[in-house]
Amino acid sequence: MPSSPPDKKIRLSTLRQWAAAGQKFAMLTCYDATTARLFWQAGLKTLLVGDTAGQFVLGHETTLPAPLDFMLQITAAVRRAAPLAFVMGDMPFGSYQCGQDAGMANAMRFLTEGGADAVKLEVSRHDLPLVERMAAAGVPVVAHLGSRPQQKLTMGRSRKVYHSAEEVRQTVQLAGEMVRAGAVMILLEAVPAEVSVGVIEAIREQSPKDEQAILIGCGAGPACHGHVVVMHDVLGLTGWHAPFAPPQGDVGGAIRETAAKWVALAESGRYLAEDHPYHVEG
Ligand code: KIV
Repeated sequence: MPSSPPDKKIRLSTLRQWAAAGQKFAMLTCYDATTARLFWQAGLKTLLVGDTAGQFVLGHETTLPAPLDFMLQITAAVRRAAPLAFVMGDMPFGSYQCGQDAGMANAMRFLTEGGADAVKLEVSRHDLPLVERMAAAGVPVVAHLGSRPQQKLTMGRSRKVYHSAEEVRQTVQLAGEMVRAGAVMILLEAVPAEVSVGVIEAIREQSPKDEQAILIGCGAGPACHGHVVVMHDVLGLTGWHAPFAPPQGDVGGAIRETAAKWVALAESGRYLAEDHPYHVEG
């Protein structure tokens, strides 16, 4: 059974303390209030309301069509259900690529309407000025590097197995620049372990003293401070899972089995025959 959840708010400073103490933390994506409540009870202290909601909740093929207002609504739902958790909002495609002012305004909406503790952006070198401006305005920015699914239309396949030494060097360098620009966390998706080792070093060099940036891996190797994967993979909700996110259960099977029991009951003719809860008085 999970240990009882903490009774104090999990803040950026909490994550920094864990990182300094070498205490790893688990994060899952989460898209609704009911699941957020269960995850918090299970011991998950950090949740990512990812734009993968566009795929797993809305049924799109990619993350690209995840609507901004929808992302804000589900971020707020997760926040309401897990008020003490560290909740990371995910800025969807189009919400920060159309100019810095729009990006700033939308990031603020994640913090105010969504109640997020930080916002994640899939970034490239071109986003350094935006990250700097957000950080200066007090927005805790998570810079998502490595595989970036929002680049799917221009880069094709978003995850690749082999990376050249030069690609590793460039990602590590950019992570350091993001930290220098003010990013409070780096999220690395689907990269060789060498990248995360290099980024830990870059964080050490580039972070302000006592405000070390946090490294979260999504298939990025054991050196990361925390690890995030898509909840559907870990819960066994879909037929496919990312190679770095092995299912830890068969919730899909449990849902099918339970729903089949309901079908059998409702179709049996016995349902509510004897135990109907409403009666005429007198
Ligand atoms: O949206 C998401 O689920 C993500 C994770 C894969 C890191 O960005």
